[in-house]
Amino acid sequence: MSLFARKSIAALQTEAASTGEGTLKRSLSATNLVMIGIGGIIGAGIFVLTGHAAATHAGPAVVLSFVISAITCALAGLCYSEMAAAVPVSGSAYTYSYATLGELMAWIIGWDLVLEYGVGAVTVAVGWAGYLKGFLEGFGIQIANAYSSAPFDWVMDKATHTEHFVSTGAVVNLPAMLVVAIVTALLVVGIEASAKVNAAFVVLKVTIVVLFIVLGLGHVLHSNWVTVHNPQGLFIPPPHEGHFGWDGIIRASGVVFFAYIGFDAVSTAAQESKNPQRDMPIGMLGSLAICTVLYILVAYVLTGVVPYDQLNVAQPIAKGIDAMGLPWLAPFIKFGAILGLSSVILVLMLGQTRVFFSMSKDGLLPVSFGKVHPKFRTPARITLVTGMAIMVAAGLAPIGLVGELCSIGTLFAFALVCLGVMALRVLDPNLHRPFRTPFIWVVGPAGAAASFYLMLALPADTWIRLIVWMAIGLVIYFVYGRRNAARVRAESERAK
Ligand code: ALA
Repeated sequence: MSLFARKSIAALQTEAASTGEGTLKRSLSATNLVMIGIGGIIGAGIFVLTGHAAATHAGPAVVLSFVISAITCALAGLCYSEMAAAVPVSGSAYTYSYATLGELMAWIIGWDLVLEYGVGAVTVAVGWAGYLKGFLEGFGIQIANAYSSAPFDWVMDKATHTEHFVSTGAVVNLPAMLVVAIVTALLVVGIEASAKVNAAFVVLKVTIVVLFIVLGLGHVLHSNWVTVHNPQGLFIPPPHEGHFGWDGIIRASGVVFFAYIGFDAVSTAAQESKNPQRDMPIGMLGSLAICTVLYILVAYVLTGVVPYDQLNVAQPIAKGIDAMGLPWLAPFIKFGAILGLSSVILVLMLGQTRVFFSMSKDGLLPVSFGKVHPKFRTPARITLVTGMAIMVAAGLAPIGLVGELCSIGTLFAFALVCLGVMALRVLDPNLHRPFRTPFIWVVGPAGAAASFYLMLALPADTWIRLIVWMAIGLVIYFVYGRRNAARVRAESERAK
């Protein structure tokens, strides 16, 4: 049955080895890949969500939430690495599941990855617009609200516990659209140019994060852990009305998980990597390790310089800097955050275009989208189409609707990848695996379980959105994708 049609791994490995016209350009080194990973990781999560997670869920123990999230990512990252090194073609988890779990599961993962990469890019573009506005206001430049916010917001009615749209009176979020347009142009022009711009932004944002840590460590006072509900100043504040305590730490892990999203986008660029077998694991696990250390230190410094109950603000890092008495640093940090968020948008959109590229080649999306530009050697058509869709969404989407949807979609993909790697060990034990996930029968189940556990920490309405999104995907698959993919498969069989 076509639902379970599997791609041949041997054919994928041949495809991965092919070069020349009609193929993507292989130019990325291990360092480029680590930079792409960091480019995708450090962004709105650390610059915004850390404060909210500490203030409402975990207090100083948000440090532990970062550790728990990092362990989940590392388990999934080990599985991703085996996959990306064995089948180093564009499209990552999508292509891999096509080879292991069959067409329907591949579609489900590909459709789900839109939540990670596409919706993630929309979320971060809206955050970018907010940071730009704040930065310009510091210089007395105002952007009218009507042109810097979405026309609708999605809010919870506290009395009836129902959610609905409300009009904000704004027209469109132009800065969010602008950043997506610039990133799209860059991605069309070339992977090398994209990697260079990304690397420059990564150096700047890492410098700023390191500066925050180094300058802040000397100002950390454990007396800042003392609050009304934590009079003893415990590292793990006692539970209070459903917040804090161990449950709070887990809930905060679900929130700060967003901060790690992006390292796996490295795997989508496997076909543009010079030596994917060796460099995919380095790119993914290396970037994850570096960011984990930085995040733990930022969370420790932030909750050590500002009492955590004061951190539920839009720019918690800026608040931390004020508390350190270093106001001169604030504009640099804001500027660094703007560049940092730009590279996140770049990497997430890179991931999205590569997944769609592979899906179009397979016929699950229109085949004509899957053409490689003869000069730029990038999937220019699908990049433009994807860029336009993300641009429109960034201009109109209410942030309340998209944020956590990205996290739940990513965790779902992680769980499926962990299961897929184990499935392939059984289905194809002799496959050449340049990188083998160590202790797969421990790491695989633990990765899937940890991802599922963090999904449970996300609110119920996020689950409903995930289910609705997946249902829409299934309708598209049965109405269009399944038939078109079968036609493409038949044509390629005839051509052989
Ligand atoms: N990890 C990315 C961020 O925090 C998505 O912005």
